Amino acid sequence: MLPAAGLVCIIAVGGAFWSHNTLSQLNAVDRSRDGWQRTPAALAALALHPGATVADLGCGPGYFSLKLASIVGPSGHVLAVDLRYRPLAALWLRALLDNDHNLRLIVGDPDNPNLPAGAVDAVLVAKTYHEFERPGVILGHIARALRPGGRLVLLDRSAPPSGDANQASHVVPPANAAAQLGASQFEILSRDDHFVERPNGERWWLIVARPAQRTGFPSPSI
Ligand SMILES: C[S@@+](CC[C@H](N)C(=O)[O-])C[C@H]1O[C@@H](n2cnc3c(N)ncnc32)[C@H](O)[C@@H]1O
Repeated sequence: MLPAAGLVCIIAVGGAFWSHNTLSQLNAVDRSRDGWQRTPAALAALALHPGATVADLGCGPGYFSLKLASIVGPSGHVLAVDLRYRPLAALWLRALLDNDHNLRLIVGDPDNPNLPAGAVDAVLVAKTYHEFERPGVILGHIARALRPGGRLVLLDRSAPPSGDANQASHVVPPANAAAQLGASQFEILSRDDHFVERPNGERWWLIVARPAQRTGFPSPSI
């Protein structure tokens, strides 16, 4: 039997090896995505300013969250929401290594991102809308979380890479999302059905929306 110190050592070395490998792979995927995802344009659509509070709903291991942390700066907040602990753990580690102290990790429920009410300037839902089982319920929670004038940016795929059968179900037409936004009392500010078109056949759309104004209140400028 191994002495306890030896066992602890093996677990520590194994953990460090796993972390190093995982982080290297994530960084490589992120760098490649920087080349085609039009990330600056997607982030600009959120109309953020230093000090803002932004939610990244379905954050995964943090491709967008880490960039958002730089945009809102030390006086701002990034609420990074995911259902699963593993991507949240990876994001926690990446934020620690990046020295980002403005990220808050939130474990969401399938129908509720558990965001604070009336406290969020913008919400990003990237490559995640197609996974929502009841998007109308989630949009209701997003509307309650947004401050007056706050924005929602949806970014998702309408066509998978050609010949990739595994990705065929991970798509949603922009018209479906637009119809659901209307049914959930959101007003669409802009819609780009061809936001990204890749040589491999992959197509992405981007929609910017905000909760529809209640009648009787002045419309804030956007
Ligand atoms: C394909 S990943 C996209 C991650 C990230 N937004 C990006 O662009 O790299 C989708 C993520 O959304 C999460 N997700 C799916 N449904 C969700 C929900 N209802 N609430 C919160 N997270 C959800 C999944 O666990 C997964 O990590």
